[in-house]
Amino acid sequence: MKDRHFDALATRFAEKIYGGAKGAIRLAVLQADLAETLPERPLRVLDIGAGLGHMALWLAERGHQVTLAEPAAPMLEGARARFAEAGQQATFIQAPWQELLGQLTEPYDLVLCHAVLEWLAEPETILPVLHQLTRRDGLLSLAFYNRDALVYRNLLKGHFRKLRRDDMAGEKQSLTPQKPLDPRTLRVQLEDLWQVETESGVRVFHDYMPSEFQARAELPDLLEMELAHRRHPAFAGLGRYLHWLCRPR
Ligand SMILES: C[S@@+](CC[C@H](N)C(=O)[O-])C[C@H]1O[C@@H](n2cnc3c(N)ncnc32)[C@H](O)[C@@H]1O
Repeated sequence: MKDRHFDALATRFAEKIYGGAKGAIRLAVLQADLAETLPERPLRVLDIGAGLGHMALWLAERGHQVTLAEPAAPMLEGARARFAEAGQQATFIQAPWQELLGQLTEPYDLVLCHAVLEWLAEPETILPVLHQLTRRDGLLSLAFYNRDALVYRNLLKGHFRKLRRDDMAGEKQSLTPQKPLDPRTLRVQLEDLWQVETESGVRVFHDYMPSEFQARAELPDLLEMELAHRRHPAFAGLGRYLHWLCRPR
């Protein structure tokens, strides 16, 4: 298995993920978590697997100095276009994470790694590199596709054979990630290097709503309720993605 660079998936990703409520909820949760944690001063930020640059642009618009690293040219081009349209500056690097330590020397105040781990062949191997790229007093913003949410959805749909086969990976060329992460395994893998400071669920109920209710719900209401329940002890762990803010040990 190889890392899945989004060369062929760029347009579908833009439409399917950021074209509707799913992307809006994702951005709202990530931004709310960061807004309550980041210091006031301008930060040096590195976004690894930056995709179309949605979060990097939001940070640039708040005065931070951002670098976007992304291996897939169509994604990076999309990000460049969005920055140009917004009149914002950034550094753009076309590279996978495996090449970053060779190119970047000074660690960053904030490193973003959002929805990337689940597309890697060996997700745990990026963790020490993220640590090296983050300043000792810096912050890692890690969001990953939550295997627990996938198990729960399959339970709700009665897909028991799939569960017995432990068959959770998406099809080739689909936007379902190839390696959903078990949060308990990831926590053990992080343990030596990072202290997880805050944890939120991204889409803790939206994706489980019956479609007729989903269609009827207004976006502002969805955003308000998702934000209000993102750290609820019973629901946070059901988020389609989990967002962890981590401090280096
Ligand atoms: C689901 S997208 C997430 C994009 C963005 N971080 C976001 O949250 O919108 C996953 C991204 O990871 C990138 N990716 C895949 N393998 C990678 C690698 N080895 N190093 C860095 N990025 C990688 C893909 O090209 C894709 O743009």
